[in-house]
Amino acid sequence: MKKMIAMLMAMALLCTGAALAETIKMGSSIDFAPYEYYDDVTGDIVGIDVEIAQAVADKLGCELEINDMQFDSIIAAVVSGKVDFGMSGFTVTEERKQSVDFSTTYTTAKQSVIVPEGSAITSVDDLFNADNEFKIGVQIGTTGDLYITDDIEANGLKHAIERFNKAPDAVVALNSGKVDCVIIDDQVAINFVAANEGLSILDTAYALEDYAVCFAKESPLYDSFNAALEELIADGTVQSIIDKYITAE
Ligand code: ARG
Repeated sequence: MKKMIAMLMAMALLCTGAALAETIKMGSSIDFAPYEYYDDVTGDIVGIDVEIAQAVADKLGCELEINDMQFDSIIAAVVSGKVDFGMSGFTVTEERKQSVDFSTTYTTAKQSVIVPEGSAITSVDDLFNADNEFKIGVQIGTTGDLYITDDIEANGLKHAIERFNKAPDAVVALNSGKVDCVIIDDQVAINFVAANEGLSILDTAYALEDYAVCFAKESPLYDSFNAALEELIADGTVQSIIDKYITAE
């Protein structure tokens, strides 16, 4: 009961009262279609994360402000309070949980591997073969980066990692032969492969993961945001937003 009263109070304070700002600030790396990207035609920031965040803001009666930043600086921006939450196709990891709190999971994803047609890499196993030596492209600070960095170390592999600030830069490098493959989230990979000729995705995924929103520890926004998000999951809003951007295979 006490907890519920505290939560109701937190909700009442949010955006309607003076205790907290009327605007909730989201940190995101706007380079990750279908989750967050600039619409080609309108130039607006759109995507699954953007629409879910907007639906939460609407429920809380707040304005949503989106700050586009490099992916690997979002957690620091969340922790320092520069933004109120991070939503950017964030995978829940134990390591990140040391510095931020994650919301309820709103969707799942897989790390997948993009290769050019005719690549010597035909399965994920090829990446684990200690005789092989590839240049692997990743977005800096993403789970693709963290996992392959660990796997190279743990298995004594010879690969070199090329780290890019923005996700599309890794694909540009793949197209020009500067890297041999790119490890990136599956739906984003599907979009890149659709937009670039001569690329394909390996059949097996590299890792499975959960996406969630991250907050500073003890964030005053956490309870009300998460309650609103859970309602939007329960009433099917989140799924209908996802379905709008991702057509079932
Ligand atoms: N899911 C991966 C992670 O959490 C990649 C997210 C990258 N997001 C982005 N908007 N570029 O590390």
